[in-house]
Amino acid sequence: MSRDKVVVVTGANRGLGLEIARQVAAHPEPITLLAGSRSGQDLKLSTAHPSSKVLYPKLDITNDADIVKLVSVVQDLGGIDVLINNAGLSFETFGIEDKKEVMSKTLSLNYYGTAALIDAMIPLMHEGGRIVSLSSSASQDCKFDNDELHKRVTDPNLTRQQLDDLVKEYSVAGVDPQPGSGWSTSPYGPMYSTVKAFINILSRLVARDHPELLVNSICPGASYTTPRVQDQMPIKFKTAEQGASEAVRLALGDIQGVTGKYWAGDTLDSLHAHVIDDWMGREIKATPRELTDSPFNAT
Ligand SMILES: NC(=O)c1ccc[n+]([C@@H]2O[C@H](COP(=O)([O-])OP(=O)(O)OC[C@H]3O[C@@H](n4cnc5c(N)ncnc54)[C@H](OP(=O)(O)O)[C@@H]3O)[C@@H](O)[C@H]2O)c1
Repeated sequence: MSRDKVVVVTGANRGLGLEIARQVAAHPEPITLLAGSRSGQDLKLSTAHPSSKVLYPKLDITNDADIVKLVSVVQDLGGIDVLINNAGLSFETFGIEDKKEVMSKTLSLNYYGTAALIDAMIPLMHEGGRIVSLSSSASQDCKFDNDELHKRVTDPNLTRQQLDDLVKEYSVAGVDPQPGSGWSTSPYGPMYSTVKAFINILSRLVARDHPELLVNSICPGASYTTPRVQDQMPIKFKTAEQGASEAVRLALGDIQGVTGKYWAGDTLDSLHAHVIDDWMGREIKATPRELTDSPFNAT
């Protein structure tokens, strides 16, 4: 007998997360959506299937107690089918001068919070369950351009402990990266880029260790979510609705069993066929519905 799919979305109260949650709730098949946010607010999302429902858990992904409560709710529902890791800093640290503060904020939410939730949900995932983590094309700017470092990040046998050690190393070395160290010295969001690269690596690693699941990361394409910052940028942004659609496809659509990949194909056929935008407004050619070639892809 078929049952409702249980889907968790983080940061569902605004931006891409709200649009992802809207689209998941509007899925034609029966869904139980847990649209999490730091406030736990009722977002009044409409469902499409008569048996679908939406719960609004309070979920700060950096708060252990919130994660423990979510685990209990998911257990009561009998498990989880899809985790969409949307919550993350994107434009929020723009303008903060203190590099240590940017490092600490970026790591705590974009890496540690995301990783903690993945760790908590994996034991509750049904066979064939999916994890979709919002990454960014900025991660592709991060080349780890040092032989030793590059070898470490691309090691197909990299363990979770080794990745966590790398992240810890980066939390110190990345504040003032030395030329030649391999850590990004780009003036444009080096910490954001590097931490999103860590998310790609984490996805690859989790996919490798959990062949029963489909685990991928994705760039939604530059999407309009933060007017305060984005109105000053010379980039043509997608709408949040458009940006959200590819994450939802990875969560609920037919992806032919692909796992362990960073996806950056077309996210909107009618607007930018064959192209995605990166942070700096350059265009990256990408073939629609295919995977980009990335050192972080599993082979
Ligand atoms: N927008 C883009 O162009 C773009 C491009 C590439 C990748 N991305 C990625 O897509 C994701 C969403 O981006 P966005 O532009 O929609 O961001 P956003 O508008 O800044 O929204 C961020 C979301 O994360 C939530 N959040 C912050 N701290 C949290 C915490 N500790 N626990 C749980 N939720 C928390 C926020 O909730 P509050 O309202 O409570 O702060 C908000 O719902 C991010 O991971 C971002 O890096 C975005």
